[in-house]
Amino acid sequence: MIVTIDGVAASGKSSVSSGVAQALGVPYVSSGLLYRAVTLLGLQGGVPLDEAPALLPLLRGVHLEPSASGNHVWQADQDLTAALHSTRVDAGVSTVATLPEVRAWVDAQLRALPAPFVAEGRDMGTNVFPHASAKFYLTASPRVRAERRARERPEDIPAIEAALTERDRLDTVQSAPAPDARVIDTGPLTLQGVIDEILRALR
Ligand code: DC
Repeated sequence: MIVTIDGVAASGKSSVSSGVAQALGVPYVSSGLLYRAVTLLGLQGGVPLDEAPALLPLLRGVHLEPSASGNHVWQADQDLTAALHSTRVDAGVSTVATLPEVRAWVDAQLRALPAPFVAEGRDMGTNVFPHASAKFYLTASPRVRAERRARERPEDIPAIEAALTERDRLDTVQSAPAPDARVIDTGPLTLQGVIDEILRALR
């Protein structure tokens, strides 16, 4: 069984996926973390983020460790996870995510994982797992998302909202909902409200 939870940036996908996965007793899989790891390694290696041939050799030994409570990305025995949510990585990740070679590398990592799991990202239901048992797509207005993110980062809400709107624009191509996904506007719901709605739909 594979459940996909896609959605726009800062729509609450990770927290919702973690909650749903814990209720189901399965891991969740954060595909965005792999795109973030490619970005981090490119920045650290001083490689232009739009050059796939320069980025791919940096990925040797990189792998995702899914769990129900949180995912880690490792490169050999080094845990990269803590560095993946910086503003610098946020700003570069959309460039990396447009590269077909990088997308193919991420997709291969994801498809090699043993089911069952909850897969979270942008194109889980459309591209990576089109035959998933159930598909969800989370939305919320840019302002609501910026207010949520401001609780995690020391930046002002208008600056976060502008960065999110720009990332929405750059991520448009891979962010379309699957035609068979249930779209949930998380704006008026609490985190537990979204998790409950998904669990009800799964039953
Ligand atoms: O979900 P996130 O914010 O951690 O994702 C980071 C970036 O990775 C996002 O801006 C777009 C990209 N991404 C993608 O293109 N496809 C995915 N399946 C997941 C993320």
